[in-house]
Amino acid sequence: MKCAINITKNVYWLGVNDRETHLFENVWPLENGVSYNSYIIVDEKTALIDTVKEMKFEEYIEKIKGVIEDRPLDYLIINHMEPDHSGCIKAIAKEYPDIKIVGNTKTFDFLKEFYGDFDNLYTVKDGEELSLGEKTLKFYFTPMVHWPETMMTYDMQDKIMFTGDAFGSFGTLDGGIFDDELNLEFYESEMRRYYSNIVGKFGMMVQRAMQKLASVDIKVLAATHGPIWRTNLEYVLSRYDMWSRYEPEEKDAVLVIYGSMYGNTRKMADVIARSISEEGIKNVKVYDASKLHLSYVINEVFRCKGIVMGSCAYNAGLYYPMEIITTKLKHTGVKNRLFAAFGTYAWSGGGVSNLNKFAEDIKWEVVADSVEAKCAPKAEDMQKCVEIGKKMAAAIKKDL
Ligand code: FEO
Repeated sequence: MKCAINITKNVYWLGVNDRETHLFENVWPLENGVSYNSYIIVDEKTALIDTVKEMKFEEYIEKIKGVIEDRPLDYLIINHMEPDHSGCIKAIAKEYPDIKIVGNTKTFDFLKEFYGDFDNLYTVKDGEELSLGEKTLKFYFTPMVHWPETMMTYDMQDKIMFTGDAFGSFGTLDGGIFDDELNLEFYESEMRRYYSNIVGKFGMMVQRAMQKLASVDIKVLAATHGPIWRTNLEYVLSRYDMWSRYEPEEKDAVLVIYGSMYGNTRKMADVIARSISEEGIKNVKVYDASKLHLSYVINEVFRCKGIVMGSCAYNAGLYYPMEIITTKLKHTGVKNRLFAAFGTYAWSGGGVSNLNKFAEDIKWEVVADSVEAKCAPKAEDMQKCVEIGKKMAAAIKKDL
């Protein structure tokens, strides 16, 4: 039975959905699952583009054979070596011992170290072309989107760019596989959560890749995760451009994120949020860092222009849920945000001072003096929270 889906006449999607794995890279929650997209081109030669996670091999090989039946597989093109895509390489090479594995020198370094030695390696250079018969493929190196070996493969005839992780999304493909067959509202947030957590650190390299692609006539963007883009290309390209420049997606949005052991810092968060709202800003979200997984916090930071952070002191430092957030944000290098800090302490401090240090390190614009209440906030502390809200709202409005 043919389970593959045509993208164009001789190009098929061979992806699989993963609704079983709880955590992507064993750290990012997959509440909506994820797809691993692989593709096959059938010409005088056959070419597979990337594979899928090892656990899905049985379903995957059935799809391949459903398309090519008894024909051999001539090429396996590896755009990206992370094991969610390279996991079936060994099994494919065993099934098709004469297959030529196509990649660059960095690809083959990872290939050997992950899976051992292979025969028939076909090394390509940036810009090199490979003829499959009627079709010619062209390779574009796009390092660090998402690993150093990453490249994209372009079908010059059908103008399909196979992009690896770029333009990917969390979320399974439930029936529809193309952007115009799906409810894009569902993918809006999951795509940003994927980008911000997985690729977000490499904004400059994403910008370089996009400049490289700008002169290529692309009709379809075929990523390794999530929807295949054939109708709303401008939508996905403009979002990637914005995110990789670390521009917030919503300039009127404010995130209030806090860590609170016994509710005192939380009370301050609510007063700040109310004050922002009283100044006419409607796009405000307040989250408890102990409850919202880090990946959703990072997603929110990529969405929002204003970030107000609160922390109680914990053993003379930041409360751990806030510490992990600030560490990940510094690592990701998010820029261009408006910032204010608040929190509580009992004896040593360490919460608010570290939030201020964080803002200095990451070079965010501090729009208001911080407030740190002793044990529980008093009326004068709450007044300072009101001031934080007013100043944040004013700074947001200035930029609209
Ligand atoms: Fe989906 Fe970087 O692997």
